[in-house]
Amino acid sequence: MNLLVVGGGGREHAIIKKLRENSTVETIYALPGNGGIAADAVCVPEIGAKDIDKIVDFAISHAVDFAVVAPDDPLALGCVDRLHKAGIPCFGPDAKAARIEASKVFSKNLMKKYGIPTARYEVFDDPGAALDYLRGPGVSFPIVVKADGLALGKGVLIPQSLREAELSVRAIMEEGAFGDSGSRIVIEEFLTGPEVSVLAFTDGRSIAPMVSSMDHKRAGDGDTGLNTGGMGTVAPNPCYTPEIAAECMETIFLPTLAAMRSEGCPFKGCLYFGLMLTPEGPRVIEYNCRFGDPETQVVLPLLRTDLLSIMQAVENETLGDLNVEWSDGAAACVILASGGYPEQYKKGIPITLPERLPPNVTLYHAGDKLTEDGRLVTSGGRVLGVTASASTLKEALEDAYEAAGAVKFAGRYLRTDIGKRALAALEG
Ligand code: AMP
Ligand code: GLY
Repeated sequence: MNLLVVGGGGREHAIIKKLRENSTVETIYALPGNGGIAADAVCVPEIGAKDIDKIVDFAISHAVDFAVVAPDDPLALGCVDRLHKAGIPCFGPDAKAARIEASKVFSKNLMKKYGIPTARYEVFDDPGAALDYLRGPGVSFPIVVKADGLALGKGVLIPQSLREAELSVRAIMEEGAFGDSGSRIVIEEFLTGPEVSVLAFTDGRSIAPMVSSMDHKRAGDGDTGLNTGGMGTVAPNPCYTPEIAAECMETIFLPTLAAMRSEGCPFKGCLYFGLMLTPEGPRVIEYNCRFGDPETQVVLPLLRTDLLSIMQAVENETLGDLNVEWSDGAAACVILASGGYPEQYKKGIPITLPERLPPNVTLYHAGDKLTEDGRLVTSGGRVLGVTASASTLKEALEDAYEAAGAVKFAGRYLRTDIGKRALAALEG
């Protein structure tokens, strides 16, 4: 089979490595791919993940048998709709279903209409009305202000006071801090509790939740500093007990699938539930219409069942016939970022990789490229994810950090406390 994967980050690298395990796979094309993915797939750097016309033309001209659309932008732009129209089977939701991530207003209204537990909220498309609301009775701080549309995972502000909240509304709605994504906003109640990421395969009716995971979104140790795309992950998430998993299935996962069917947009693909385990029970913080990054880098290494077979079952709506199995172990991923990320950082810095890695360690390349003379250099903020799998989380973390130490590039930055809270939860 010839496969095509849209995207070019660590998540796509993890998907590609897993797809490679299927012996019927001949060629995998990555559009655009990256420097490290080039060792596992045929990369096409000229075609970006948002170039929908070119992606469809490429899939047709290269006789692609199955496509995987991984990032949110092409999903929201209807890449899956277009590939389907061209007769190419694929994994990922169509544009209508992708609204569950692409519009926070859509997802909040969906949860309200179908009684799915989430933070209480109001929607505003006029900054004056938003400011009046913030100054009104019954509003307490901190509060959460979210841009409606996609904003590279950065469209959420958590002002601590009325003054900060006014500045947040102005920044998003009047100064265009997140571009057009912020012409409508959601203002919602601030919730507290451990956060859990649950990715799930679903064909619209059946759902197979993956091993749970924990992201570390802030740039600095101790969850300080700016929000990033994610500085590291561990799986499974020790806060997510079997009892909580059963409750989430009843109150969140199955109701979400049913809600999407009722709205005429059944969700097929990987549905990401960003959950907060509040004292009142699990609440949905956000949905994503795709695999998480860097959650995928710790979840897929624990998958025992063939990934391509699962993806085909999702496409064919036969997921219910498949037994999706997971290993009992744990995995940890440490992100190596370029100094300055998530703000300004340099690109083009040469990378030195270790000559040998232990068999339980994998490097997922996220932001690098090959120069014309074949050298590997940085090209993004998050450069590499170093994942280790082991029978315990403690061992996985030790092995991931040891291997991370052997990857060198000038200005390399990493958090030193990935998994610390998870280990404490395991011990506590
Ligand atoms: P999101 O982009 O929706 O994932 O939000 C980014 C981060 O903001 C989440 O991972 C949470 O840590 C935080 N967040 C979002 N919504 C809330 C909320 N209602 N209460 C508390 N924290 C939130
Ligand atoms: N790691 C968070 C996300 O993929 O949105």
